[in-house]
Amino acid sequence: MSDAIELLKADHRKVEALLKEIQELPDTAHERRASICAQVSRELKAHDKIETTIFYPALKAKTTPDTEPRDEVLEAYEEHANIAGMLEKLAVTAPTDESYNAKLQVLGELVKHHVKEEEHEMFKQARELLSESELKELGERIEREKQQLVTA
Ligand SMILES: [Fe+2]
Ligand SMILES: [Fe+2]
Repeated sequence: MSDAIELLKADHRKVEALLKEIQELPDTAHERRASICAQVSRELKAHDKIETTIFYPALKAKTTPDTEPRDEVLEAYEEHANIAGMLEKLAVTAPTDESYNAKLQVLGELVKHHVKEEEHEMFKQARELLSESELKELGERIEREKQQLVTA
């Protein structure tokens, strides 16, 4: 059974691989780009749901105001909102539009920055604040939620 952090990291790797695939496409591969982008969007929305409703609240509950881990969690919510905003913009932009790639590029940068902060700071703090059994229990809840998102 994987713990919550391992599951969240696996999501990160999956999205990174998809974004890399997009970067390697020729400029004219509009349809393929849009289809991988739709996949990225699905993955990020599921990840957003899991982190903002399961992982972040559990971690936040272990922090106190004015401490670094609390700030990390609060910033993360805002970064998720920025990422969701860019996904919305992409959803209403034609893949042939000259701004489509620019939007994708910015989405990639937002994701990269956010993932780095989670993995280099927040997850390390989470390992100190949450016990192994708590992380496993959160992992189970994440897997159950994922199952529901897939079958929804
Ligand atoms: Fe994440
Ligand atoms: Fe996140």
